Formats: sequence, structure tokens, C-alpha cells
Amino acid sequence: MERCWLGRDVLSILDFDRKCIEELFNLTLIMEKYSRTRLNILEDKVLALAFFEPSTRTRLSFETAMKRLGGSTIGFTGEEAISVSKGESIADTVRMLDSYADAIVIRHSLEGVAKYAAEIANNPVINAGDGTQNHPTQAMLDLYTIWRELGEIDGICVGILGDLKYARTVKSLIEGLTLFRPSKIYLISPPALRPRREVLAILENAGLKYSHVENIDEVIRELDVLYVVRIQKERFPDVVEYERVKGSYRITLETLKNCKDTLIILHPLPRVDEIDPQVDSTRHARYFKQAAYGVPLRMALLTLIFGREDKVR
Ligand code: NCD
Repeated sequence: MERCWLGRDVLSILDFDRKCIEELFNLTLIMEKYSRTRLNILEDKVLALAFFEPSTRTRLSFETAMKRLGGSTIGFTGEEAISVSKGESIADTVRMLDSYADAIVIRHSLEGVAKYAAEIANNPVINAGDGTQNHPTQAMLDLYTIWRELGEIDGICVGILGDLKYARTVKSLIEGLTLFRPSKIYLISPPALRPRREVLAILENAGLKYSHVENIDEVIRELDVLYVVRIQKERFPDVVEYERVKGSYRITLETLKNCKDTLIILHPLPRVDEIDPQVDSTRHARYFKQAAYGVPLRMALLTLIFGREDKVR
């Protein structure tokens, strides 16, 4: 089989086709067995974790994945801790990490930083979030969770609720959905938080059916998946705009009273107040399971990028 992952940068989920994503899913399923033990196939590899912006799950699941595979990590979170605070350029920081490590995972508040890093680095660069643009490994994880929990992505009805304007996870999920054939996508948000024009164009170009919805009650009955994101406060250029929309949606037990028995609720996390904690104990809540799948998924991703998949089976 052609190796679509070996040595590749992961900047956008659309760098990969459906076959590559399915290969990743199949290996993730195998990695679930090893995600609480150890599989020493990357002992000679070092992964750099360059987080210029805060992160909990993405950074720690990459770190856990690397350690479960026998590899090691170096890295930082926050600019204060490194020489960027002394005036060092991102380019110099990346050059140095590239000389220490075998791959770089990078998160930054500026759009395009991962792509810029990939132009500088010789080793693979994985985008762990660049501003409002992309978070490809989160989208891979979101799609894996749907595939794993529902058995398929084709034919399903997906509601995406929340800050669809600034959330990079939403853009990457929408891109990822275009690799499959969901029956319908509902974009549920106040008008001020609808996806940007260029994101809607992705759906249109792929010929996927979508509609804008303001009130989730109108569509809750139809949904197979409800994907919720927090309002991305830090990305609002204007606090007045933020104040106007904050707290404009919240999923409660009441919201779910007419939903399908099989509905699953996903959230990339962190959540603020958009899902009532009472929902956590319903059969619909899958967001913590989704976060847990982050380890086997990133184990599979690293294995494929380093070309060690033959050592797994
Ligand atoms: C997301 C992010 O950083 O974009 N977090 C994550 O990686 N799970 C979502 C968010 O911050 O809302």
C-alpha cells in the first residue's frame, strides 16, 4: 500500500484523503489495546512539543502517546518560559527544535505559524492549532470518535453548535466531514457566530447539505451527533461583541428530551458553561471518551509518520 503518512507534515486534515484517514482509524483501533501499556517502537525518537498557547489535552495526549510508544518528548508551554520572551524569533526557535527532535508539534495563536514552521523544519511538523484556522489532529479524533461510537460517518446527521466563527476545531471538523458523506449538517449558532464565508465555501464545494439554525430545539430530533464548542473568548477582537453572545447557548437535560436514543454528544473540551454537568451521566455524553481516544489516535498518527506501522502487528 502507498504510504500516505510517512514523513509528512500534518497542517490541515485536507492534506490527507479518505483512505489515509481510514488507515489512521484502523491503526488507532489496534492502538487502543496498547494505550494503557507500552509498545516500544519509537525508542529512538524525540518529539518536540512547542505550545506557544495553552493546552491540556492536545499536549498531554501527544506526550502520553509518545511515552507509551517508548519515545521521549521535549518542549514548553507559554512564551514566558522560552527565549521568545527575550526577543528570539519563531524561526530560530523552530530551527533549534528541528535539530534536537525528530518531529515538532506546534500550537500558536497566529494563523499560518505551523505552515511557516514546516517550511523551516526538515522534520515533520504537526499543527496543534493555529489561531482560528486549523486543528487537524482534533478533527481526526472527532471523526474517529464518531466512527468508533456509531460505526460510520456516511449518512449521519451532524449538528455543530456554538462559536462556529472563531473555533478552529469547527473549521477542521467541517473539512474532515467533506472526506465522508454525512447526510446533513446543521450549523447551530446565533447569527453573529456563524462560520466564516471561506468555511461555508468548503461545504459548498464538497456538495454537502447544510443549514443555519438558531435554536437547537428545531433540529434536535434529527441529530445523530451533536458537536459543541465553547465561545472562543480569546479570539474576539472586541469584548463588546463577546459580551453580546456569551452564555447564548447551553445544553441541559431539557434540551435532550426529544433527541434520538442513539445521539452522541461530542466536545473538543475545555467546556465552560455550554454543557450542563448533569448531561455527563447520560448515555449521550461521549466527550470524555473522545478525549481518552486522543492517546491511541496520536499513537497511531506518530507511528505512521515515523513509518513504524509494520512493527505493530
Ligand atoms: C480546542 C482548541 O485549542 O482549539 N481545544 C483542544 O485542543 N481540545 C478547543 C477550544 O479551545 O475550545
